[in-house]
Amino acid sequence: MTNAHVIENVRRVATCGTGAPLLGTAMRELGVLADDPCVAVRDGRVAYVGARKDLPAEFAKAQRIDGKGGVLTPGLVDCHTHPAFVKGRAEEFAMRLAGASYEDIAARGGGILSSTRAVREADDATLTAQTTRNLLRLRRHGVVVAEGKSGYGLNLKDELRQLAAIRDAGELADMHTVRTCLAAHSLPAEFRGNDARRAEYLRLVVDEILPAAARGGLAQRADVFCEQGVFTPDETRAIAQAAVRLGLQVTIHAEQLHLTGGASVAAQVGAASADHLEFLDDAGARAMAAAGTCAVLLPGSTYALKMDRWADGRRLIDMGLCVALATDFNPGSSPVANPAFVMNLAVMHCGFMPEEALVAFTADAAHALRLPAGEYGVITAGARAAFALWDVDHEREIAYYAGSNLCEAITCPGWRS
Ligand code: NIG
Ligand code: FE
Repeated sequence: MTNAHVIENVRRVATCGTGAPLLGTAMRELGVLADDPCVAVRDGRVAYVGARKDLPAEFAKAQRIDGKGGVLTPGLVDCHTHPAFVKGRAEEFAMRLAGASYEDIAARGGGILSSTRAVREADDATLTAQTTRNLLRLRRHGVVVAEGKSGYGLNLKDELRQLAAIRDAGELADMHTVRTCLAAHSLPAEFRGNDARRAEYLRLVVDEILPAAARGGLAQRADVFCEQGVFTPDETRAIAQAAVRLGLQVTIHAEQLHLTGGASVAAQVGAASADHLEFLDDAGARAMAAAGTCAVLLPGSTYALKMDRWADGRRLIDMGLCVALATDFNPGSSPVANPAFVMNLAVMHCGFMPEEALVAFTADAAHALRLPAGEYGVITAGARAAFALWDVDHEREIAYYAGSNLCEAITCPGWRS
């Protein structure tokens, strides 16, 4: 049979359900098969998952993929990343180690604005090559679906170049990308100084950048950094509402460094997710729960910024929200491209159990991106044939071997078509 594969010789298959997000206590129910399981794939989709002895006869001649006795999970879904950057910011890392704060550095024109200068100066080939390199850094750790944000262009031309680079890099890296326009990441330097200029940039975002990003599906989502000194809740609401009118999904960087009310704005506009949430309060959490807004936690950035306040994942899971984890991979606040390490941080600091951390990087992350149910983040009949194979004895160990890369991503031909 052409275009058919069987992944066999695996110790365990953690299916992560059948496509619906797993909420509350269901987050610990990974649907594990442990009795000589295998997964059969036809035309890029899962056709069978079950015991090898019951493998349908039609797969007798299918090409074999050796699972090497490892644990097979859905390919990871990284639902919040900033991969379209062209160079790291290790010099700022050194400044922070010497005592400067992330916000001090940003106020001095570093931070997001320094990545913006680099993106604007890079030609298209360099931008695409570096974005591909960044996506491959995630793929090596098991990621097959990556959300990718712009936000280092901060003008019409360079925001669109970033989104196109993410699209093209996804092709080159054999990854599915979901693209998010984050033109409201920071006020660009040339618009700073007075309120009129600030209002002008907001108009540019709403009237020109978002409509152009939405055109032809270049971006599917819009994001705003709602934070003290960045964009206010009112500005965030206005941008988000404009995005909704354009048919874009909305997500918001909320309550990362201070409690500003971004999570409540996210709920009001029907956002798919509010992300970070270290400073989330009860009112914001309840508003998100009522609106069905997912909580995306990014402990890699909490860690890298040496914050002492971590998002309270335990409480959000117990409240029944859809809770996802993501790397937030970016050159400033989260130079972390390893989801298993992020799972470890979630377990150590955010109150997750290891199984919950895996669901938060698969089924629930797919829902945070509003991907079609049953396509990604799950191993079930009809799902895309994209997997992560782990050199561990039990899925619980993924969040346990902190910092080690024990993973490879596996995709079967046709999985994205
Ligand atoms: O998710 N919070 C804002 N944006 C990013 C950081 C981007 C940067 O520092 O370059 C974040 O942490
Ligand atoms: Fe981010």
